[in-house]
Amino acid sequence: MATILLTGANGKVSSEAIRGLQGQGHRLIGLVRDPAKAKGLEALGVELKVGDLEKLRTVEALFEGIDVAWLLTAPGPTAPLQESNALWAARRAGAKHLVRLSAVGAAHDAPTLNSRLHALSDTELMGSGIPFTILKPHFFMQNLLMSARTVAEQGVMHSALGDAKVPMIDVRDVGAVAAKVLAAPAAHAGKTYTLTGAPVTMTQVASAVGEAVGKPVKYMPVPVAGVVESIAKMGGDDYQQVSMRDYFTAYARGWMADPTSTVKDITGRDPRSIAEFARDFAGAFGKK
Ligand SMILES: NC(=O)c1ccc[n+]([C@@H]2O[C@H](COP(=O)([O-])OP(=O)(O)OC[C@H]3O[C@@H](n4cnc5c(N)ncnc54)[C@H](OP(=O)(O)O)[C@@H]3O)[C@@H](O)[C@H]2O)c1
Repeated sequence: MATILLTGANGKVSSEAIRGLQGQGHRLIGLVRDPAKAKGLEALGVELKVGDLEKLRTVEALFEGIDVAWLLTAPGPTAPLQESNALWAARRAGAKHLVRLSAVGAAHDAPTLNSRLHALSDTELMGSGIPFTILKPHFFMQNLLMSARTVAEQGVMHSALGDAKVPMIDVRDVGAVAAKVLAAPAAHAGKTYTLTGAPVTMTQVASAVGEAVGKPVKYMPVPVAGVVESIAKMGGDDYQQVSMRDYFTAYARGWMADPTSTVKDITGRDPRSIAEFARDFAGAFGKK
């Protein structure tokens, strides 16, 4: 049984990875910034360590005694700094395997800012000499919950994805793959996996959500500039505005549209469909 450190422990993907690792006898350690926000993790038997990846001194000792670590950073301009800090601490402590959450299409010449920053961290990890695995998930279905209010109040979903087919993935499937890799990392050493669901258009998404909530839901396309404006109005910073502008522009043009079989290859079951996601989150979309 391994001692596994998970960063971003109370975030969406990491908490699903923790769920997938339950009951196997591993010692799980979660990095959090604020333990008050992590009561649910303690209930799952996760030991908490407090630190901030932006502050090297708070994470220098984090990797001592760790066999495998899960590296996840929130999107933002300091993500490469945070990853570099974690990698340095892991290297000094002699971590045996690192599993990193990157993003679909991460590359130095990718058309999206967030993907280029992920590429910096992927490249640093690949050159570290530490055995690694990199997961590159596609657009999270859970992003669609941004439309929960308009679905509930007006029966509409706005998006700048146009008519593009996007192989969105449920975060629960990303977590399930992460758990499998963290539990048996040697089999995945040196591998980079792109994780997707089946491709869907926003018209199909709206139809699945409508079916799940029991009323018609209409997809209303909006220009990318409209999305950026909404993010700005909600207080989104420059990084968030540029990131979303880049992602919607690229996806609407068909960037990274091909699905992969990786979720099934690693977990043994098909990724969740958009219909399954919509049914499971129907309450969040306003189903009475
Ligand atoms: N959304 C998508 O469609 C998509 C697709 C592919 C890849 N991704 C990638 O997925 C990652 C985000 O995953 P997620 O959605 O699970 O994130 P999330 O739910 O926003 O959680 C982020 C976690 O990181 C922690 N965190 C933030 N800043 C930190 C710091 N300075 N030091 C230590 N911990 C810190 C947060 O802790 P607090 O609770 O203390 O804030 C939180 O637990 C990003 O790398 C993104 O690029 C996203």
